[in-house]
This record gives sequence, structure tokens and C-alpha cells, in this order.
Amino acid sequence: MKHLLKMSDLSKADIIDILNLADQLKYELKHNIPHRHLEGKTLGMIFQKSSTRTRVSFETGMYQLGGNALFLSSRDLQIGRGEPVQDTARVLSRYLDGIMIRTFAQKEVEDLSQFGNIPIINGLTDYCHPCQVLADLMTIREYKGQFDGLKMCYIGDGNNMANSLIVGGLTVGMEVAVACPEGYRPDPTVLEFAKAYGNKFTLTDKPVEAAANSDVLFTDVWASMGQEGEAEIRRKAFAGYQINDEVMAAAKRDAMVQHCLPAHREEEITAKVFEAHAEEIFDEAENRLHAQKAVMVKLMKS
Ligand code: CP
Ligand code: NVA
Repeated sequence: MKHLLKMSDLSKADIIDILNLADQLKYELKHNIPHRHLEGKTLGMIFQKSSTRTRVSFETGMYQLGGNALFLSSRDLQIGRGEPVQDTARVLSRYLDGIMIRTFAQKEVEDLSQFGNIPIINGLTDYCHPCQVLADLMTIREYKGQFDGLKMCYIGDGNNMANSLIVGGLTVGMEVAVACPEGYRPDPTVLEFAKAYGNKFTLTDKPVEAAANSDVLFTDVWASMGQEGEAEIRRKAFAGYQINDEVMAAAKRDAMVQHCLPAHREEEITAKVFEAHAEEIFDEAENRLHAQKAVMVKLMKS
């Protein structure tokens, strides 16, 4: 594994390996056991979109691993004034030991990995959010003990989160059911990927149908970063695509709820369901730190 560009780069064994290391790093952190695997290393973090969790967890994680992290806003970099990604990649490869990038086009992340010669980590694109889904899988395993026999349900926009959850969930052996309105389905490459899993993957436009008998339910915002101008149209298109009491009643009694955050209460999730599952959701947010530390150690440790 040289980079983390998208979930489909990872085999089941790769994911389990990362999660095992993440569990170990979490244990070490909680017990004050030093784990300075990246002493003297520097991670550059390029942000073309806002972030709370990704920025803080990568920066803190790098610090805990004995390294250093640089916050590079695209507003300040020459990339924001049109310097080609090819040149940026080659220059940054001379200074840094790894790059985390959050941007719009997946192609930009793929280009960075082609033209640079240091590990590239995708910190969210319009296409996918692999770091988030590794943390999600870590949290599911913490609560449920295993993946086999579990059903994951995703309700809402067929966006970056849906794309990565489908690939990640199927890869580790879960059944995955998705409910999206017509016109807002997951990416065709992801639907193609899911075909190989036969009836372990289902796509519907009925949230209660997708939620039936599920062990873990996911949702995400109706309008992602960059789609603010479509917020009104999307509010109409997604009405009813919500994790609420009715949806929870269709799921298993001990079903857990996950949300990558930020959440919009009374849009994709009711405040009641959110608060009832807040512990799981904030464990999920915490696990970004541990899962990403594991990714950085795997990719950047000499
Ligand atoms: N879930 C997530 O990626 O959060 P941020 O946008 O705050 O980084
Ligand atoms: N789908 C959301 C996820 C945020 C973490 C977005 O892209 O804005």
C-alpha cells in the first residue's frame, strides 16, 4: 500500500490490518504508552474545503506520532492561483514525507500520487472519503465485535460517504442496503463494484425498506461542501430521506447509528435519534484520530 486514494485500493486484509493497528494505537494513547513511529517526519495537509475533524485529527495524530503537520490552505498556496498539481506534487515531494489532501476532484488526488513520490492520503473528495470510512468500520467493530453477518444501511445522498461506505462495507463482508432518491444515486463505478457482491448489495428509493433488519445505519448531509447553491432543490429532493423513529423501528433493536458529521438535525437525522446515539457518533468522530494514525504509520514509517 503506497497511498490511500479511495476505499477500493484496499483489500479486506489491508483494512483489517489498519484497524488492528488503529486499535493498538488507541490503547497505547489511552495508557500513555509512547508510540512515536514518525519522529522527524512531516505531513503536509492541503485543504481546498473546510474541516474540523479531518484537520484536527491529522494534526494531533501526527504530533502524537512524534512528527509534524503543516496546514496548507489552498487560499495561500500557489495551487490556488493555478500552479499545476504536477509541479506542486514534485516540489512538495522534496520537502515532505506525506500529503493529506481535501479537494473537489478525485483526479487531483490521483494526479498528486502520480507526479509526486511520497504517500498521498485522500482527506475527502467529491467522490469519496476513505479516512472517514476506516474510522466508521473501526467503530462498528468496536461495538459489534465483527463484520460478518451484519447489515449496513445508508439513507440519503449517493455522495462521497455513500460511495466509500458501499465499497468498505462490502469489502469487509457486510450486507449493504442503500436508499437514495432517483437522480442522487451513488457513483456508477461504485454500483459496478457492488455488482460483484450479488444480493449482498441493494439499492432502493425507500428508506424503511433499506433499514429493515439493519445493524448499523448511516446518513449524511443533503448538500455537501460545494453544493451550497443547490441546498433548496436538495431539501425538496431529500424530504423523507431521514433517520427517524420510523426508520429505527425497521432496524434491529440494538442497531447503532453513525454520522460522519457535521449533522443537520431534522434534515437527514432527527435530533431525537441523534441524541439517543450520540455516544456511538462521537466515538466514531474520535476514531478518526486512531484510524488515520494507523494509515500514516503504514504509509510513512521508514
Ligand atoms: N467528517 C469529516 O470529515 O469532518 P470535517 O469536515 O470536519 O473534517
Ligand atoms: N458529504 C459531506 C461529508 C462531510 C464530511 C461533504 O462532502 O460535505
